[in-house]
Amino acid sequence: MSNEDLILEAVSARKMAYAPYSNFKVGAALLTENDKLYTGCNIENASFGATNCAERTAIFKAVSEGERNIKKIAIVGDFTNFTAPCGICRQVISEFSDEDTEVIMAKNEKDYIVKKANEVLPFAFTKKDLK
Ligand code: THU
Repeated sequence: MSNEDLILEAVSARKMAYAPYSNFKVGAALLTENDKLYTGCNIENASFGATNCAERTAIFKAVSEGERNIKKIAIVGDFTNFTAPCGICRQVISEFSDEDTEVIMAKNEKDYIVKKANEVLPFAFTKKDLK
């Protein structure tokens, strides 16, 4: 799947965002190493700390179905800015990434930035640190 199509999937997933507190809707779409597609939106909570970001919704859906390696993940928040994944999501992306994994931050399917997962979270704490 092209970056453009993956971004359009994120735009579509964003429509399901539950964001009554921040009013900031986010959508994410990822492709796994087996070319399976998973999407997610942010899901807020009256107890704000219980909020789940769009990226983690999509990743947890993938992992819960046995897919543990992200080929690329697209994120769409505000259509006028590039939305970067938060720190917790960078850590979760890192857990299920390799050196080729791409993070696509998009305003729309024609205007986006691509970074490697290890660029958005350099010097990461990983499973290697627990050996
Ligand atoms: N949010 C995401 O879903 N992903 C990001 O990358 C940044 C932040 C959500 C969490 C919360 O629902 C809202 O955006 C405002 O922080």
